[in-house]
Amino acid sequence: MKLAVVGGGSTYTPELIDGFARLRDTLPVEELVLVDPAADRLELVGGLARRIFAKQGHPGTITTTADLEAGVEGADAVLLQLRVGGQAARNEDETWPLECGCVGQETTGAGGLAKALRTVPVVLDIAERVRRTAPDAWIIDFTNPVGIVTRALLQAGHKAVGLCNVAIGFQRKFAAMLDVTPDQVHLDHVGLNHLTWERAVRLGGPGGENLLPKLLAEHTEEIAADLHLPREVLDRLGVVPSYYLRYFYAHDEVVRELRTTPSRASQVAEMERRLLEMYGDPGLDEKPELLSQRGGAYYSEAAVALASSLLRGTGDVQVVNTYNNGTLPFLADDAVIEVPAVVDAEGARPLPVAPLEPLYAGLVAHVTAYEDLALEAALRGGRDRVFTALLSHPLTGQYEYAEALTDRLIAHNREHLAWA
Ligand code: G6P
Ligand code: MN
Repeated sequence: MKLAVVGGGSTYTPELIDGFARLRDTLPVEELVLVDPAADRLELVGGLARRIFAKQGHPGTITTTADLEAGVEGADAVLLQLRVGGQAARNEDETWPLECGCVGQETTGAGGLAKALRTVPVVLDIAERVRRTAPDAWIIDFTNPVGIVTRALLQAGHKAVGLCNVAIGFQRKFAAMLDVTPDQVHLDHVGLNHLTWERAVRLGGPGGENLLPKLLAEHTEEIAADLHLPREVLDRLGVVPSYYLRYFYAHDEVVRELRTTPSRASQVAEMERRLLEMYGDPGLDEKPELLSQRGGAYYSEAAVALASSLLRGTGDVQVVNTYNNGTLPFLADDAVIEVPAVVDAEGARPLPVAPLEPLYAGLVAHVTAYEDLALEAALRGGRDRVFTALLSHPLTGQYEYAEALTDRLIAHNREHLAWA
């Protein structure tokens, strides 16, 4: 089995390698290629990756290359984990929206739109080259914004599934609280990427007993503290929103906070500097503790599980991003949603979802409309399309803000936008 990781020079890669090493019975990787244009990072990350495999006695080979076609040739699956413009571009996404009183975040609101505009054309170009070189390969997309990017890939006819670690994070957390193993915990996870709620936590599988009321009765304080939301929100909802819902439910509070704290991008850039320094140490042969301060917890477990289901056709259930196809009847079939799905060699098919309450359905429909318009803007460009997408978003949807944000978005991203 051959896997290629595009964006393999990412400081996250050792997390992935550690997962491949630990879970080699689930996913027997024989050949792994890290593909990245940044030669210096690739060398440091590739060196550590080989030492992790060697230490754990993994027989697979790890190679590095800047040549996409050479890297993906013969691959069974290609993982996309790139960040167009790096942390510098992310820092902009997190900063200029604040000037208009709007949240500055890399996947939500105006910053998320900027990221989509930079990213979609690059990912589509890569996917096209993958298809020409390795036509049967599955594309597993971690590249944010995952919902919009996955939709772009599926619309272009690629064999793609989008993945995020929010659901697996909740699964692990709830399993620990219930004192059971994670594979016993099934989440009724519903929504769009970075806009989801856990409506039930079932033991044993999709039909199992719902233990969410018990979990909320016993652990609301802890769960709320993790999400930085007041416990009253959980008490009222009776479901657990993902921490990305804080940007909606506590928007103005978040803006006030962001205005007085260093951006996440600047914190991550500093962490990356230290991580790369560590990766260069030939004595290091495991992922360093510092990596756990990044947001990607359990991302390797999720990737291994998904790749294994796609490549070995296991038909088990995983939370992924894929076409709606009637699952949420108020959305178009070709909207991309994030829900539990049966995954096998044919791809992902969502499990049926109980009717979504208006409180959640309203926001999901609203943000889906935005994602539509955002994808239009990413594919076809133009100031008007950017403005329309911003006017459609629940967090930026005022004429005056949308105008000001459009100007800033274009000014800060000119070098990444072919049409600007
Ligand atoms: C979570 C999200 C990812 C996001 C990451 C950011 O894992 O699910 O989509 O990329 O957080 O983490 P960072 O350490 O870069 O802030
Ligand atoms: Mn995510």
